[in-house]
Amino acid sequence: MAILVTGGAGFIGSHTVVELLNEGKEVVIIDNFSNSKKEVLDAIRKITNKDFKFYEIDYLDREKLEKVFEENKIDAVLNFAGFKSVGESIEKPIEYYTNNISGALVLLDTMRKYGVKNFIFSSSATVYGEPERIPLTEDCKTGSTTNPYGTSKLYIEQILKDIYTSDPSWNICILRYFNPVGAHESGLIGEEPQGIPNNLMPYVARVALGTLKELSIYGDDYDTKDGTGVRDYIHVVDLAKGHIKALQKLEKEKQGLFIYNLGTGKGYSVLDMVKAFEKVTGKKVAYKIAPRREGDIATCYADPKKAKEELGWQADLGIDEMCRDSWNYINRG
Ligand code: UFG
Repeated sequence: MAILVTGGAGFIGSHTVVELLNEGKEVVIIDNFSNSKKEVLDAIRKITNKDFKFYEIDYLDREKLEKVFEENKIDAVLNFAGFKSVGESIEKPIEYYTNNISGALVLLDTMRKYGVKNFIFSSSATVYGEPERIPLTEDCKTGSTTNPYGTSKLYIEQILKDIYTSDPSWNICILRYFNPVGAHESGLIGEEPQGIPNNLMPYVARVALGTLKELSIYGDDYDTKDGTGVRDYIHVVDLAKGHIKALQKLEKEKQGLFIYNLGTGKGYSVLDMVKAFEKVTGKKVAYKIAPRREGDIATCYADPKKAKEELGWQADLGIDEMCRDSWNYINRG
């Protein structure tokens, strides 16, 4: 029985495929390389010394997707496919809703057709909107998302809840990621944003490398210890391992709908991250204070207790490893 990974050449998908192969799982990847590169597939093979099946298709292409289910015995689906840039989603809401929501619906409908009901969904802490309280527990209220990307995650969560209500033989795990950073320690796979990065860590790494001049810190007047935004940065390898634990949970439970935060439970400010990056890499990160970025919140970090208790998962890597591996990847030459 194989695990189907959509978006398996992407940042979080590729790291999760590595962990799945290391666990001895049979893996089928689909990806259309809309935000990833073909070389990632060879890098995964190199890291794991294992192989997998690959289809270059768009998950919105129902006919081609059905062929994947015809040709393989799929047991579970991990859905990483989807657009993920907050800023771009505000410019292109139709593209974001079509790709993320219609894509998920085509996938879920195809799964239903082939009787595959084990599903792990990549959601985001963004579904909490303005946090009801900190640290965020899974029962905190969701909603009031500030961009179509976040809203697409929120809607898909609702769709999954409705599917489960209509047919409780589904076995669904929703994982709410906090801020994934870092890269595989081999330096062979990592985050490859197209154009100028929106997210903090890839931006910081490019300033240190010299390809970008200086970081703009979006606001130093938040109600936080140093005035800059606080987030729960999580190493992508820890995040990937969370999916293995989620899969084990589904294998054990057989049916249900489960929701977990995947975060470290620790909040670091923008300045903490800049300082940690400078310390670990020995490089200077030039920055200036800029106005707040619209839609940003002051503080967001997880209470990761539920994942620890129910999945036996917790993040092991700290910000030094996150900075080291981000740098190692971008500085690979
Ligand atoms: N920041 C800067 N300068 C930059 C980029 C970011 O100061 O150039 C600051 C932001 O203001 C924020 C922090 O760094 O305080 C983190 O910003 P990111 O853009 O890296 O991450 P966000 O927390 O805004 O968003 C991330 C993901 C979303 C996800 C969300 C979940 O990008 O996909 O976490 O909380 F939905």
